[in-house]
Amino acid sequence: MAADDDSYHQLLAEYRKRDNFESVFRTALDDLAGKVDLSWVRSCVAFGCGSGEHELEFVRRLLPNLSKFIAIDPDHESIEALRSNFESAQLAGVETAFMETSAENWNGADKPVDVALFFNVLYHVEGDARQQLFQKLGTQHLNPDGIIVIIDSESPDTSGIIRLMRSLGYAQNSRYGDIEEEVLACGFCSVDSVRDIVGTRDLSNPTEGILKYLKLHLGNAIGDELIRAAIAEIYADPDPKVKHVVRKMGIFRKSSPK
Ligand SMILES: C[S@@+](CC[C@H](N)C(=O)[O-])C[C@H]1O[C@@H](n2cnc3c(N)ncnc32)[C@H](O)[C@@H]1O
Repeated sequence: MAADDDSYHQLLAEYRKRDNFESVFRTALDDLAGKVDLSWVRSCVAFGCGSGEHELEFVRRLLPNLSKFIAIDPDHESIEALRSNFESAQLAGVETAFMETSAENWNGADKPVDVALFFNVLYHVEGDARQQLFQKLGTQHLNPDGIIVIIDSESPDTSGIIRLMRSLGYAQNSRYGDIEEEVLACGFCSVDSVRDIVGTRDLSNPTEGILKYLKLHLGNAIGDELIRAAIAEIYADPDPKVKHVVRKMGIFRKSSPK
């Protein structure tokens, strides 16, 4: 692999070939579009967008009147891919700003925004930093009726990815339920019922890129052979639940519901 092939962006693209998030995410958006009206949203900040396909899909499907989109991601290649995806999408009338930084280091936009998106990113941010960010969103960075949309993993203990990461010593204390508790503790309240986004993932016979992606999360401290052996054992289990992955999508408003 060339050096660039080891960027978060490239490794995630390879990892995602093993799941069907794309299609289950689309179904979840269809469901949401019928129940929640976000046509009032004019401005949006999206944290950890990667190359932004899912954030773009969300904007297209649910934010018809968006005029400002701010993207935050610390990975250079992701920001470049995102820029190019937004250019190709040609969202009429949407001003964009791409910021190569982490959620922890973001200092806010010129003006408060209407919505903050956190799709599959908050497990990368330490608990204390997450709480600080939610507090700042609540007090400074969001408009009075501003909302937060969170998607994160809440796979059951029977899921292969949970079994795998646990067997390799990864601390799983940043699942959706933990994050939701923090958001509520920061004074946000739930806008709509939390949706399950249920998909499948099969990591059998992992490529080098998949091992590298897993090692990004494991701090690169574990050898390939150990990871391969754990995957082989777990994914040989014929129980279909091994291949299930569950994410949850929750929407929270900073003020009390009206
Ligand atoms: C699993 S990807 C999710 C990409 C996209 N949101 C999606 O759902 O398809 C996680 C992204 O978070 C970014 N990331 C990692 N640490 C971060 C941090 N501390 N703050 C913001 N983004 C971060 C990574 O570079 C990566 O692009």
